[in-house]
Amino acid sequence: MSLRYLPLLLVCAFGMAVASELNYPLDAPAPDGRRPGGTLTQEFPAPALGNEENKDIKRERNYPEQPPTIPHSIRGYQVDANGNKCLSCHSRAGSARSQAPMISITHYMDRDGQALAAVSPRRYFCTQCHVTQQEVKPLVGNTFRNIDQLLSDEATDAAKP
Ligand code: HEC
Ligand code: HEC
Repeated sequence: MSLRYLPLLLVCAFGMAVASELNYPLDAPAPDGRRPGGTLTQEFPAPALGNEENKDIKRERNYPEQPPTIPHSIRGYQVDANGNKCLSCHSRAGSARSQAPMISITHYMDRDGQALAAVSPRRYFCTQCHVTQQEVKPLVGNTFRNIDQLLSDEATDAAKP
């Protein structure tokens, strides 16, 4: 046999070794998360996508450095090497036309804090940091308390005798 097939053979052997190592029961109950119920190997139809919240009302930020969530739908907006739909409204020039808030100065800064003339490449792909919200119930509980609440707790504690 020619050695040409050796790599293929090794991959097959490795695959079979991995498959035979399967040491969890196939019908073990799955954790109740995004897809409650069922077993580990059972497939369910994907849950319906929620609607993007599209109320155009700015949401409160949980801390000052938080990238604000997007209060409008962005379905079908192109952001790639050929174009950036977001910037057509949110760029320096675009915001006057659209009345959308201009991206802040940090979007023009390089990693050394130097302000550039155009949007910094590291801030070009907006949805890396900014996300829409869906009209769905939260999957898990959340006990986050913001800094105002923490400060007020502290003040109440300090006032106690
Ligand atoms: C057609 C114009 C338009 C386009 C395109 C657009 N936006 Fe907006 N955006 C707005 C306007 C206007 C607002 C102000 C609130 C509102 O009216 O929804 C806004 C608000 C926002 C905010 C909230 C700012 C804050 O202070 O809370 C974010 C974040 C945002 N947009 C991100 C994006 C991203 C990311 C994209 C591209 C995927 C995008 N926008 C595309 C017009 C636009
Ligand atoms: C690396 C993360 C990151 C990326 C990528 C990014 N942003 Fe932001 N954005 C932030 C953060 C953090 C803030 C809030 C603090 C600040 O202004 O720097 C913000 C703030 C904003 C605001 C509110 C500005 C204001 O003055 O209220 C808008 C609008 C916005 N971004 C739009 C965009 C758009 C459009 C893009 C794509 C061209 C984009 N951002 C890319 C992190 C990011």
